[in-house]
Amino acid sequence: MPSTIVVGTQWGDEGKGKFTDLFAKEMQMVVRYQGGHNAGHTLVVNGETTALQLIPSGILYDHIVPVIGNGVVVDLGVLIKEIDMLEAKGVSCDRIKLSGNAHLIFPYHQELDAVFEGDLGDKKLGTTKRGIGPAYADKANRVGIRVQDLLDPKIFHEKLLISLNQKESLLEKASDEQALETESLLNTFLEEYLPRVRPYIADTIDLVHTALEAGEHVLFEGAQATFLDIDHGTYPFVTSSNPTAGGACAGAGVGPRHLERIVGIAKAYTTRVGAGPFPAELFDDIGDHFVNVGHEYGTNTGRRRRTGWFDSVMLRHAVRLNSLTEIALTKLDVMDELDTVKICAAYDIDGERVEKMPNDQLAFQKAKPIYEELPGWKTDISGITNPQDLPEAAKNYVQALERLCGIPISLIGVGPGRKQYINWQS
Ligand code: GDP
Ligand code: IMO
Ligand code: MG
Repeated sequence: MPSTIVVGTQWGDEGKGKFTDLFAKEMQMVVRYQGGHNAGHTLVVNGETTALQLIPSGILYDHIVPVIGNGVVVDLGVLIKEIDMLEAKGVSCDRIKLSGNAHLIFPYHQELDAVFEGDLGDKKLGTTKRGIGPAYADKANRVGIRVQDLLDPKIFHEKLLISLNQKESLLEKASDEQALETESLLNTFLEEYLPRVRPYIADTIDLVHTALEAGEHVLFEGAQATFLDIDHGTYPFVTSSNPTAGGACAGAGVGPRHLERIVGIAKAYTTRVGAGPFPAELFDDIGDHFVNVGHEYGTNTGRRRRTGWFDSVMLRHAVRLNSLTEIALTKLDVMDELDTVKICAAYDIDGERVEKMPNDQLAFQKAKPIYEELPGWKTDISGITNPQDLPEAAKNYVQALERLCGIPISLIGVGPGRKQYINWQS
């Protein structure tokens, strides 16, 4: 059976959680393949909001096996809190599978995240301070500690000492302080966390392949987004993993042959949290309108998101980088009250019209948006489910996005609720 991936096409928070939840109805398994609790994916079902950081967005369905893949970095304390939060709402978490190969985030990764950000001063990246970068750095440095290391206390102890010794000077810790920290971490991870998470630990690669071989439909849920990708994003203002579709292969242990339907989630405008270039950014009333009407505050950190117009130059690049087969557009309703709407169609770089996202970072920093302007629709579309019922001006906007992005838009979100969407191709 083919599998589907949901990938963010901008700088995150496009509404991946909402559409993953929607698609999960027809799937058997949902797999997170990268990132960690830097993600915040929001689901709104029957008016009730659930915000998830680590657990895959299919969890609300009883039939879904939610898998935390090998490419994810896991803070076990956060995972346990999330499980408790869901179970308190009556959502069973028994089906969760946690890869034994996933790397663990420790408190010292979070301390290092803060130290590195502090060192950068006014050049700081604006990370979520969740320890994501330092945990992936340990993985690349081959001193990371994996979930399966917990199963052998001796190995866990040895690896913890190696990792802590490395950080001693960076974190300026005295050796007696470090000895106390070792004791406390051994206790927390082996006595407190392990008994809670042991039932979930699994060979997720075998599970995913067994599901695919049985003809089940597997959904891969990206966190973060294309332009936060460590290889393809606006480096260094990126996260430390590969959210792009190719990341699902490494982060879940599947070959590209399995990735068939690749859905890019795009907000009808653009947002970004944290520092970094943003050509179509707005600093005016319309930017504030997107923040206020779209509730553009981080699901995870509560930070105000930066806002701007839809950037089709970036989207065309995202189509290529991910082999997108379709776009699911979100938050079109947030534009309901605008008199005119704009789409960044190309950039002006040193007086030249540029249609493709430049590889040269200095050129990208100089890029000025060249806009196409269309009339707004000035109508509340949040209750519409039939594409024919959309106002003409809204249809024109969606068609202009399709023309500029070069691929079809399949679904359009018109509100946060699970049922608030339009099947645009119907
Ligand atoms: P994710 O990180 O990509 O899953 O997105 P977030 O959950 O961080 O942020 C998206 C926000 O927009 C959430 O609050 C969603 O409930 C909300 N949302 C998703 N789709 C729509 C939509 O079509 N319209 C509106 N108004 N809100 C939406
Ligand atoms: P979801 O999955 C938006 C941003 C941070 C920062 C940069 C690096 O909800 O779309 P990190 O903590 O990863 O080292 O921070 O990446 N960032 C996100 N922005 N949505 C996210 O996740 C993000 N995860 C990380 O703000 O700029
Ligand atoms: Mg989010």
